Amino acid sequence: MAALRTVRRTGGAKEPQTRRPVVLSCVNLKGGVGKTAIAVNFAAFCGARGLRTLLIDLDPQTNATFSCISVEAWEKHATEKGTVANLLGVRQHTSAQGAAKKAEDVILKQVFKGVDLLPSHLDLFTIDLDLSSEVARETRLRRAMKDVLGNYDIVVCDCPPNLTIPTQNALAISTHYVVPVSPDFLSSIGIALLLSRIKKLSEDLENPLVHVGIVISRVGRTSYFRTQTAQTLRTLFGDMVFETQITERTAVAQSAAQNRPIYQMTENAAAAIDEFTKFGTEMAGKLSLK
Ligand SMILES: Nc1ncnc2c1ncn2[C@@H]1O[C@H](COP(=O)(O)OP(=O)(O)O)[C@@H](O)[C@H]1O
Ligand SMILES: [Mg+2]
Repeated sequence: MAALRTVRRTGGAKEPQTRRPVVLSCVNLKGGVGKTAIAVNFAAFCGARGLRTLLIDLDPQTNATFSCISVEAWEKHATEKGTVANLLGVRQHTSAQGAAKKAEDVILKQVFKGVDLLPSHLDLFTIDLDLSSEVARETRLRRAMKDVLGNYDIVVCDCPPNLTIPTQNALAISTHYVVPVSPDFLSSIGIALLLSRIKKLSEDLENPLVHVGIVISRVGRTSYFRTQTAQTLRTLFGDMVFETQITERTAVAQSAAQNRPIYQMTENAAAAIDEFTKFGTEMAGKLSLK
């Protein structure tokens, strides 16, 4: 497939360097619905097609980070360079070694082809308490990233399963968001509430967000009312539901454990690669990436 290119919003020779990229947040109040698998593999899809891609891990569980790099590589980088937690303000924006951190220090280059990674840290678990008396805490990432976002065509934010400070910071830099949903009864309830809370947040942040849609993910996992739930989602949300569904397949979990995108798996991965490629193509279309 030909290299993807973003639709330039301003175009022409005098295009400002700080052009705003497409920034996509992966959100749901539920964990285990495939947010991280979708964020990591969509970032890999974009990077492989020639888009300058940044993956930002905003979940203290650091799953996106460890889907790309080893624990050892993360420990070294977190200590020497810092993580997104420093950009949000833990330890007065310094790393464990005490030096003040800037976004360009903290970003790991080329974790996958064409993909840079802003890694996360367990410190984010307490960020809401740490920053409880700080002003403008939901726009810290926006300020920290202001000079680097323009270096990318697409930024993918992997969010924790809540709408607290890390997710608010992701939404404050986002242009779009997507909601992965696992088709089980408990995962599907509350989507309407999530959408209305995000709408309210985007108004409060004065940052209009496009809801790209709902992705039915981890299909096939043993779950209660699975078939009915997928059908109900399509009935309730119609066109908002992605045509491509992501099936539960061993290769997806294996690729994360091996710090690789699904596209680099060689054994028993053809069906998963095909599905994530279809999903990536559908998502790229909805984001007007070409
Ligand atoms: N399509 C899939 N097939 C198989 N395993 C998956 C798939 N998507 C996610 N997983 C695995 O399920 C677990 C939860 O998925 P994850 O993407 O981390 O969900 P979330 O980010 O919503 O919590 C992880 O162990 C992940 O590797
Ligand atoms: Mg996750």
